[in-house]
Amino acid sequence: MRQELVRAEGLCRWFSGPEGRISVLQNAKFKAFPGELLAVLGESGSGKTTLLQLLGLLDRPDGGKYFFKGEDTENWSENRRAKTRNREIGFVFQQFRLLPTLTAKENVALPLVISGVPSWERNRRVRAALDQVALLHRADHLPGALSGGQMQRVALARALVTNPCLILADEPTGNLDPKSADRMMELLLAQRKSGCCVIMITHAPSLAKQADRLMYLKEGHLLPDA
Ligand SMILES: Nc1ncnc2c1ncn2[C@@H]1O[C@H](COP(=O)(O)OP(=O)(O)OP(=O)(O)O)[C@@H](O)[C@H]1O
Ligand SMILES: [Mg+2]
Repeated sequence: MRQELVRAEGLCRWFSGPEGRISVLQNAKFKAFPGELLAVLGESGSGKTTLLQLLGLLDRPDGGKYFFKGEDTENWSENRRAKTRNREIGFVFQQFRLLPTLTAKENVALPLVISGVPSWERNRRVRAALDQVALLHRADHLPGALSGGQMQRVALARALVTNPCLILADEPTGNLDPKSADRMMELLLAQRKSGCCVIMITHAPSLAKQADRLMYLKEGHLLPDA
């Protein structure tokens, strides 16, 4: 039987507001496997980013269990969580989140600097990642000198440079023109070949229909696969 990469079992997340507790994610249950691309859809405020943050070990659930590579993450230390984020998970955020004072190649190198990869190996991997997103010729540019589509491709290269087994992308095409969005989608789909699992939030039906599976969030509830 195929071993799942991630498994959510009844994940819950709530926040306290002025009017008491707001339940943002309720009893979310699903599995995702290596080599598939899942699209997460749902209205604004339905809990999509909240779910992605739990899957990315950026946040902890208030209830339920989250298994990563078959291991229950509940009792993982902050250090273990940070190491897993750094080495096994690649994030692509809607707003790119590139450091403005670092060049494209320095931005891409950051996860490798954090994990202590020596500079000769770092350079090789950074070049390979920038090549994958067809941006080697912009390696020395600062983000401010790149177009939106190019910035997002640098952000993807930064997510790919560690060879993660999981890529989490929060509306990665939200700020892109249709052509750049298609290119980003192609690159995300291509990651499946190496067994990477991609979980992508999108509002664009044309992109969602290219996914292997869809997940819908409605008011914090994950609806069964369509
Ligand atoms: N830290 C927080 N404190 C309080 N409420 C929060 C917090 N984070 C999220 N929420 C609430 O949880 C709900 C879901 O938020 P979330 O960001 O997951 O939505 P989303 O589906 O990603 O929406 P969008 O499509 O607009 O990005 C919203 O009502 C939001 O106000
Ligand atoms: Mg969101």
